[in-house]
Amino acid sequence: MTQKQTVIILGATGKTGASVANGLIESQKFNVVAGIRPASKNKPEVENLKSRGVEIRLVDISAVDDSTVDALRGLDIVISATDYSTISAQKQLVDAAKKAGVKRFIPNDWATPCVRGVRQYYDDQKGVIQDYIREIGLGYTFIDVGIWHQMLPPADKSKEFYPGHIEGFTKLYDEGNVKNAFTDIRDIGTFVARIIDDPRTLNRYVFIWGEEVTKRQIIDIMEKARGTKIETTTVSLAEIEKKLTSARAAGGAAQIMAEYEYSFWVRGDNVIENAKKPEYGGALDARELYPDIKPRTLTEYAHSFYGKSN
Ligand SMILES: NC(=O)c1ccc[n+]([C@@H]2O[C@H](COP(=O)([O-])OP(=O)(O)OC[C@H]3O[C@@H](n4cnc5c(N)ncnc54)[C@H](OP(=O)(O)O)[C@@H]3O)[C@@H](O)[C@H]2O)c1
Repeated sequence: MTQKQTVIILGATGKTGASVANGLIESQKFNVVAGIRPASKNKPEVENLKSRGVEIRLVDISAVDDSTVDALRGLDIVISATDYSTISAQKQLVDAAKKAGVKRFIPNDWATPCVRGVRQYYDDQKGVIQDYIREIGLGYTFIDVGIWHQMLPPADKSKEFYPGHIEGFTKLYDEGNVKNAFTDIRDIGTFVARIIDDPRTLNRYVFIWGEEVTKRQIIDIMEKARGTKIETTTVSLAEIEKKLTSARAAGGAAQIMAEYEYSFWVRGDNVIENAKKPEYGGALDARELYPDIKPRTLTEYAHSFYGKSN
């Protein structure tokens, strides 16, 4: 019998990290460790992980030192799925992982396929970490996941996840016929448990996705799930480009959102056909690698989400 790999998940109390932790625990194929920052060690989510057999080690990505190297010793794989503010700090974590003898590093990507220079404010920082991992010769797998089903907006404006959430989702860009890949966040961990146990994915980029839908199809799914007509607005390409230019000048959250909007709904970066192209990283298609995994559909998600008075 081959020995189980030992895997640490950083961000196991967060949304992506919790899905990864579930997938790994349920697969029963790994010794699962959660890297928790000291300030969070008494959180109920941490107790819950412990009760499911997860070992806890204290790691703060923003304060990497020799104790971090010690915490990473004996691990085969590091999975990073932490906060957006910790992307650049991963450089020190990558160094610590290399020193500790880690075999494979999965950095904090979990986004959508794109080329560099489009999502300049946020995702290009993720690219810098990918380049660094390659440069120092640490084994890796880069993973993107499409847009989460769970990003669908609530019907009630007071429950928006961020200001302008509903308005953004009900906009039709040009004709509204550009496709985007979507994935249910709960399926991410199921795929990750297979990906990290697969020699074919070492030093490769893998794209996890559930289905591809256009804005018009999403509105249709939302209308059927909610049983009401959804008012849409149409935005011209000229308007989006103008907004992008001013958002880039403003920086911050405005730039992040405008760059996503442009990449998703105008350029159409986020589809498997693009992900596979060399300039996007030459992705392996997770659905081709593991055809037995049946991802949840956006329609199923919409019916359960809007059925719970959202
Ligand atoms: N594809 C999509 O649609 C989509 C949507 C949203 C996000 N994402 C991406 O998914 C990734 C993860 O985001 P998320 O929203 O899932 O995360 P999240 O729910 O915000 O969770 C963040 C996690 O990071 C941990 N953390 C924060 N700072 C840390 C530190 N200094 N050291 C160690 N752990 C730390 C937090 O732990 P505590 O318990 O200590 O707070 C928490 O577990 C990001 O790359 C993000 O861009 C993708």
